[in-house]
Order: sequence, then C-alpha cells, then structure tokens
Amino acid sequence: MNDRVIPLLDARRAAPIRAAGAADSGEPVADTRGRYMRDLRISITDRCNFRCVYCMPKTVFGRDYPFLPRSELLSFEEITRIARIFVAQGVTKVRLTGGEPLLRHDVERLIEMLAAIPGLELTLTTNASLLAKKARSLRDAGLQRVTVSLDALDDPTFRRMNDVDFPVAQVLEGIAAAEAAGLAPIKINMVVKRGTNEHAILPMARHFRASLSSTGHIVRFIEYMDVGSSNGWKLDEVMPSAEVVKLIGAEMPLAAIGPNYPGEVAERWRYQDGGGEIGVISSVTQAFCSSCTRVRLSTDGSLYTCLFAERGHDLRALLRAGQSDAKISAALGALWSARSDNYSEQRSVETAALKKIEMSYIGG
Ligand code: GTP
Ligand code: 5AD
Ligand code: SF4
Ligand code: SF4
Repeated sequence: MNDRVIPLLDARRAAPIRAAGAADSGEPVADTRGRYMRDLRISITDRCNFRCVYCMPKTVFGRDYPFLPRSELLSFEEITRIARIFVAQGVTKVRLTGGEPLLRHDVERLIEMLAAIPGLELTLTTNASLLAKKARSLRDAGLQRVTVSLDALDDPTFRRMNDVDFPVAQVLEGIAAAEAAGLAPIKINMVVKRGTNEHAILPMARHFRASLSSTGHIVRFIEYMDVGSSNGWKLDEVMPSAEVVKLIGAEMPLAAIGPNYPGEVAERWRYQDGGGEIGVISSVTQAFCSSCTRVRLSTDGSLYTCLFAERGHDLRALLRAGQSDAKISAALGALWSARSDNYSEQRSVETAALKKIEMSYIGG
C-alpha cells in the first residue's frame, strides 16, 4: 500500500456538537482571538473531475476512493437553513466550493435558494470545466461572481497539474462565458508549485492583464499549502509570494495597494501603468490567521473552523435531530467563541505531517 494513503473515513468522523443550553443572544460572537464569523464556505460535493496534483492526487483519489454516498450529503434545504442561521450570526459571504461544485446535480436550484437570503454575497470557486455550459444559468439563478482555478496557460503544464488531460482552451471558454454572463469580477487562482508550474507565472500575468480593449481579470498566485494529508507537501516546493511579485514586477512594474475588506486573504498589487491588479496569497510565508473570519461546512454537514483542522463538528446531527434554529445558532455561537485556530502561524515539519482533512471535502 502506498504509504501516503491515509484512512480518510476516520479523519472524516466529526465530533458531536452539544446543543447549547444557553439562550442564543442573537448577536455575533468573537472567538478567543477577537475574530468574527464573516465568510462561510460550503463544499457541496467531495467529487471532482480533475486530479490536481496538489489537491486530489491520483495515488490517493483513485477509482476505488470512497467518496460520500448521496444519503450523506446535506440537502439543498439543509444547506439553505444553515446559511440563514450563519447570516444571522454575522456571515456576509457564502462561497460554494467542493470538490467541483458544478458537478452537483441541479446546483442552480441551490443558488436560487441561497440568493433569496437578504444581505448575502454569493460566489463560487470552480475549475471551469462546465462553466461555458452553465455560466448563464448560474447568473440567472442569482450567482454574483466566480473564481476560477487555473494553474497554467500552456497545455502541457496545465494537463500535468490537473492530471486528467484537460485542455486549457475549455477553461478559457468557461472564463469568457462567465464574463459574457456578467459574473464579474472574475478571479483566477493559480497555485504555484515550484518545479512544476513556476514558468507559467509570467504568461499568466501577461494574459489576464487589462488592455485598452478589455477589463482584465484578477489573477491570484497562491503559495502551495500543506493542506490535507495526501499531496506529499514539501517546503522546498513552495515559491514564496515575494518572489512572484519580484518576477512579475521586473517586467510589469507593480505597486502595493490596500485590501478591499478587512481580513482579505490576498495581498493586492496594481500594475503601475493602469493594467489592473494581481493578488498573492501567502499562507506559508506570511500567515493571515490573525484576521481569519472563515468557517467551512463539509459536504456531509461537518463544521470546520480551520482549513487545517484535524476534526470537524457534526452540525448535520443537530439539524436532523430536529433542533430549532435558535438552539443551533446558540450551539454555533458557543463553538465559535471557543475557537483559537491559527494553524498557519504554527506551521512546521511536524504539523505538516499531521492527518488533516482534505480540502476537496471541506472546500478551498
Ligand atoms: P474573495 O476575496 O471573496 O474573492 O475570495 P477569497 O480570496 O477569500 O477566496 P478564495 O476562495 O478565492 O481563496 C483563495 C485561496 O486562498 C484558497 O483557494 C486557498 O488556497 C487560500 N485560502 C483561502 N482561505 C484560506 C484560509 O482560511 N486559510 C488558508 N491558509 N488559506 C486560505
Ligand atoms: N495549496 C494551495 N491551494 C490549494 N487549493 C487546493 N489545494 C491547494 C493547496 N495544496 C486551492 C486552490 C484551488 C482551490 C479550489 O483550492 O486555490 O483554486
Ligand atoms: Fe478539483 Fe479544484 Fe481540487 Fe483541482 S483544486 S482537484 S479542480 S477541487
Ligand atoms: Fe484561518 Fe486556519 Fe487558514 Fe489560519 S490556517 S487563516 S486560522 S483557516
């Protein structure tokens, strides 16, 4: 047996959440580091049609991988109910993720249900393989914008990264369809893995830069992270964001700009000639835990207060036990107020080797 295979079914077993006895104050609560909940990421399927080397390597996610059976998934009604409770707790943005969220049957119906919640920004992260076909219906259902994962513009490198021989051209068609449908601003996420796709950085920056004839998209270069337990992460495969900025800035001068909102994960840089902006996400070299307002809901309804958590909290059990919204809200408040996560600030060779939950299960 491959020594990188981790018994994921065990890792997926969530801790029970106590239905809180205390009354729900109805007010947003801070965690032990003074952070509030703002950003809810919901993984709506643990399946994906790509096998990106840094996320779902084929050695682990093979033909016989035990993906969740349908009965384990949260229904659209359950997801919407949870989202409403979170919004009452202060969440202002919901991101649908996966796996590949567009693989979930009838995803447009879920979007319609979520879009009906007042005061919510609704977005989605996708590999864009189905985006050309779905951009219009997603927009019509109420989706506001999309973020597309794309790790190179040249076919050989992109195919090596997605590991299923998927061509770049179809992703670019998906991005064009999203633009035509008004799903803007479109962000493009590129995970940089040293030795695999760093040569794709400059072509990516050049391609998505705004020109006089187009608005341009925002490319974000992401440091390869030790998320999950199966990608065989090594520190020397991480290219620090500072190097990425230096590389791009040498050809197309850049200037730092401030965040769009407190706690934004990407550090923003604008092209000095007015060609738009890029972002860098530096979880490894410059942890951003101190302002982390994110909470993640797995496909089967476990709640994770950190991307690198080893264990989640079983929210689905509370839902299915017939608890009232007020009870669930109080339980969430109690859970959040006890939160102290700051994994990226403590990352080391030892923590990298821990059995963490896979990103495809809790969402990127
Ligand atoms: P917007 O600002 O709304 O566009 O989105 P975002 O930048 O918050 O979200 P996005 O999902 O695009 O995040 C980009 C990438 O940053 C993710 O795919 C992860 O690789 C990384 N990331 C996001 N959130 C976290 C986090 O809480 N911790 C760490 N360590 N990395 C994160
Ligand atoms: N390191 C950094 N980002 C990752 N993603 C998945 N795995 C990793 C990793 N090991 C992120 C990418 C991708 C999104 C779905 O998840 O940003 O675009
Ligand atoms: Fe699929 Fe996205 Fe993971 Fe790639 S990064 S395997 S597209 S979920
Ligand atoms: Fe938030 Fe955990 Fe990421 Fe730190 S490592 S930013 S606490 S999700």
